[in-house]
Amino acid sequence: MSADLVCGLQWGDEGKGKAVDYISENYDVVARFNGGDNAGHTVVHQGNTYKFHVIPSGVLRGCLGVIGSGVVLNPDSLEEELHQLDGSERIVISKRAHLILPSYKLLDQKLEGLKGSKVGTTGRGIGPAYAFKAFRFGVRVGDLFQTGLEEKLSEARRLVESLNVEWIEPDVKHWKEILAPYVGDDYKVLHEAYLDGQRILFEAAQGFLLDLDFGTYPFVTSSYTFTNGVHAGSGFNAKKLGDIIGVSKAYTTRVGNGAFPSELSGDTADHIREQGAEFGTTTGRPRRVGWLDLVALRYAVRVSGCNKIFLTKVDVLSGLDQVGLVTAYEVDGESVSDWFDFSQGALERVKPVVKWCDGWENALVEGKLHKNLLTFMETVEGTVGAKIQWVSYGPSDHETLCML
Ligand code: IMP
Repeated sequence: MSADLVCGLQWGDEGKGKAVDYISENYDVVARFNGGDNAGHTVVHQGNTYKFHVIPSGVLRGCLGVIGSGVVLNPDSLEEELHQLDGSERIVISKRAHLILPSYKLLDQKLEGLKGSKVGTTGRGIGPAYAFKAFRFGVRVGDLFQTGLEEKLSEARRLVESLNVEWIEPDVKHWKEILAPYVGDDYKVLHEAYLDGQRILFEAAQGFLLDLDFGTYPFVTSSYTFTNGVHAGSGFNAKKLGDIIGVSKAYTTRVGNGAFPSELSGDTADHIREQGAEFGTTTGRPRRVGWLDLVALRYAVRVSGCNKIFLTKVDVLSGLDQVGLVTAYEVDGESVSDWFDFSQGALERVKPVVKWCDGWENALVEGKLHKNLLTFMETVEGTVGAKIQWVSYGPSDHETLCML
């Protein structure tokens, strides 16, 4: 019996979609437990490109896809995703998942306007959906199919209007049609699958550094983005988790605002952004780029319990004479490398200490990883304390090397 987790170790967009698609070959069930359509996974599968927001990409390989209680769901956006599939896929959506009501997007904008320093959200109404849930004014998927829906919507409407935001009536009749075939009980499905000996893969959205508690608050998302979210967001017994597979790019990107110690600008940044097509899947925004930050990565590995790393996009760095790795921060004249323990203000002041590695013209030479890339990977493993088990050197599923 096995239940493992794939989570991002950075600020999202690490290539989790590809990692899950590749790894899910070995699983029967793939489950999401956090976030909503703020996430964007691009998956190239058998020559076709898919863009997923909430549907676990493993459904392409015939896995059962579970959308857990901790997810916030926009049924209109889900409908668009469903159009990419041929209808044979098996999907269960938790009746406890909260709905993203249309007014939440307006509220998301309004909240951004009220902040001195904007978070730079995806504008999908994610924060408001989690806030309404915590206020106990949320409307859940299961409510659509029960008596009392009108009263729940009126409550939400009263709260929305009390915040001077326009109420937009959701088309609940249509939402019911979209969701009816899929509504179920995530924890039961997962528990039964586990007892039945099926292999379960949990797929986190966003990344460790965007976690509501352990990320770079307040420039974070509103959910639990790694191991901490599995139990809360799916009801699956977290004690039964096996491997924690962390996905990291060979460099770092960030969309939205907030400190970014290893950030680059100029030609190297442009090279990486262009080669890596670093533009947001959900918003199209150009991503900020920087060297791989091992101080932050080690923090993510330690707190998440990550024991295996899936390293992505090593090909994007091809052609650079030298490749940087941030191994420490200089703070007020002192070098700090052990724990990532900074307030937002302090993080903005740190200066990265860069270790330079010789670059590689091509990631692969005669079917083997370039020796300079191997040296780069050894430094990463030695510093963060987890093994790199997979290396991805291109967008397609076959452009992946398993290091075992
Ligand atoms: P929200 O999740 O839309 O509230 O946005 C909060 C922060 O998380 C912003 O900085 C977003 O850019 C970031 N964010 C949310 N989802 C993703 C993602 O899937 N990839 C990368 N960044 C994300």
